[in-house]
Amino acid sequence: MNTAGLEDIRRWHRRNAEVVRSLAEASAGDSAEDGGAALAAFFDGPALELEGHLDLEEREVFPLVAQLLRHDTGILDSLRAEHETIRLLLGLLRSSREAPGGPSRNDALSALNDLALLLASHFHKEDDLVNPLLARLLLERPS
Ligand SMILES: [Fe+2]
Repeated sequence: MNTAGLEDIRRWHRRNAEVVRSLAEASAGDSAEDGGAALAAFFDGPALELEGHLDLEEREVFPLVAQLLRHDTGILDSLRAEHETIRLLLGLLRSSREAPGGPSRNDALSALNDLALLLASHFHKEDDLVNPLLARLLLERPS
């Protein structure tokens, strides 16, 4: 991970927050008969990307955060807990599409709205609080 990598993450966050926000809007307008076209498109691409992104942060970014904040892992604990909630919401949305008798359309829409809100605040924490500290650490670190 380097500072260019952190900038890529910021760009990716911006794009993904936008994707999920417009998905929540589009899904609210989907008719019940079309089976949630917006949600189907989401799971064909952006949802997989989002899951890969969570894995990448846990593998490459969080260990650096832990190194930087040796005595204060509160923010890291909270970011990890939010990643788990994001995965839970994605699982719920996936089962609402795939399992007959799974969560209702209203439950899926509410999970989608929860996901959009959570991603907005989660990305804000990472981009504006944590990653600037990491960028400084990376610049100061002897190569
Ligand atoms: Fe994250």
